[in-house]
Amino acid sequence: MRSSHPIGIFDSGIGGLTVAHAITRRLPHENILYFGDTAHLPYGDKSAAAIQAYAVKICNLLIQQECKLILIACNSASAAAFELVREYVGSKAKVMNVIDPVIDYLGEHYARHTIGLIGTKQTVNSNVYRKKTDALEKGIVLHSLATPLLAPMIEEGFFNKNISQAIVNEYLSDESLRGIEALILACTHYPLIKAQINAYYGGGVAVIDSSEIVAQSLQGYLTEHHLLNRQGLVSNEVSNEATSEGLPRRQFFVSDYTRSFEASTRIFFGEQVRLEHYPLWE
Ligand code: DGL
Repeated sequence: MRSSHPIGIFDSGIGGLTVAHAITRRLPHENILYFGDTAHLPYGDKSAAAIQAYAVKICNLLIQQECKLILIACNSASAAAFELVREYVGSKAKVMNVIDPVIDYLGEHYARHTIGLIGTKQTVNSNVYRKKTDALEKGIVLHSLATPLLAPMIEEGFFNKNISQAIVNEYLSDESLRGIEALILACTHYPLIKAQINAYYGGGVAVIDSSEIVAQSLQGYLTEHHLLNRQGLVSNEVSNEATSEGLPRRQFFVSDYTRSFEASTRIFFGEQVRLEHYPLWE
């Protein structure tokens, strides 16, 4: 495994670009290979078995492309497929998920606190956050609520609007979230509605956005294992095309291409990126 090899990142679609963006901001010299499984989106309503089958196939591609690290940038897939993927990938690449870094963060900062969590049905029903916080034995009480309307709402561009504020308010006023001191955004789409969530709580509840926490943890792993890419250090430019000498390369593949997905990359990644159709299922 070489430090110049790419970081492979995958998600059910383009929501994971929020995490990819946090990573590229922190580690601008890394080569990135992103795969959004838009043909099977949303994962949040799928069975664990289906998500596991998709994840294994995506990992085959990322292994083929010699990724040094594979990040499952989707809570639903992290909940359903992380253990299986880690075993499947074995020593070919390090596999990370978006849940464990948040659990570590809770252990450090929120011992004996009452925490809320919102995410897809898959993430919430898997109970994975509860099991992992219980395993910390730090007296953290976790209250989770499935909020399945939020991801499609954001993808349709409904954020920072009155209608989305009303939906956010409705979910957050649910009885199950009463008395929480912090809220985990357990879906990679949700950083887009962080402002509306903050508006609901008026600063009284800390909002835990996993994208930054995950990027920091990934940076820590690469640093510790001497796997940070050194090759691109000469330039701050980035190439979306085949490697120009010395420039980090960023490629964004989707299993089903539409122009509207491409247009939406702007909201998740901060700038529009060129999506390439990779027909993994054809
Ligand atoms: N990005 C996914 C997650 O973090 C949610 C979208 C989906 O349901 O596919 O869970």
